[in-house]
Amino acid sequence: MSMRRLILVALVAGSALAEESPNLGAAVSAADLALVDYTVLPDGSGLPTGSANAQQGAAVYVQNCLACHGEGGKDGLNDRLAGGQGSLLTDKPLRTVGSFWPYATTLFDYVRRAMPYQAPGSLSNDEVYAVTAYVLFLNGIVAEDADINAETLPKVIMPNAGNVVWQIRGQ
Ligand code: HEC
Repeated sequence: MSMRRLILVALVAGSALAEESPNLGAAVSAADLALVDYTVLPDGSGLPTGSANAQQGAAVYVQNCLACHGEGGKDGLNDRLAGGQGSLLTDKPLRTVGSFWPYATTLFDYVRRAMPYQAPGSLSNDEVYAVTAYVLFLNGIVAEDADINAETLPKVIMPNAGNVVWQIRGQ
C-alpha cells in the first residue's frame, strides 16, 4: 500500500470513529445541572429565594455546625468562624469570615456548596440563609433579627472589604 493510500484509510477510519456515539451515560437534565450550576457571585447574582435571621440560624448552627466549629464559632475542632477583627496586621493574624472575607455573599455560596462538611448540600436554602445570618451575627456584622435574603445579603459590608485589592498578574 502506498503511503498516500495509508493516510486516506486512516482519515476515513478517524471520521467514522468521531461520528459513532460511545453510547455511554445519559444527557444531563436541567434539574441535574441545577444541582451543581449554582454559583453565587460577589454581587449576589445567583442567590436563591428564601430568607431567615440569626435567631433562626442559631438552631441550624447547633444542629449542623457546632460539633466542628464550636460555641459561637470559636474554639471548635475546625476553622474559627468568628472574631479576629483587627488582628490581620498583627503577629498573629486570625483569619475568619468576620475578619478576612470580603463578601458576605461568598459565605452563602460556600456553606451551601461545602457545609456541613460531612453532608454538603443537605441544608435547604432557608437554612443556609439562617446560618449565614448567624455567622454574620456572631461577628457583629448584622443584627440578630435582621432578615437575610437575596436583597439584603449583597448589601452587607464586610469589615475587611476595603482592604482587598484585586491584582491581575503581569499588570
Ligand atoms: C464535620 C465537621 C464540620 C461540620 C459539621 C461543619 N464544618 Fe465548616 N468546616 C469544616 C472544615 C474541616 C473546614 C475547613 C475546610 C477546608 O479548608 O477545606 C470548614 C470550613 C468552614 C468555613 C470556612 C472558614 C474559613 O474562614 O475558611 C465556613 C464558613 C464553615 N466551615 C461553616 C460551616 C457551617 C455554617 C456549618 C454548619 C452548617 C459547618 N461549617 C459545619 C468542618 C465542619
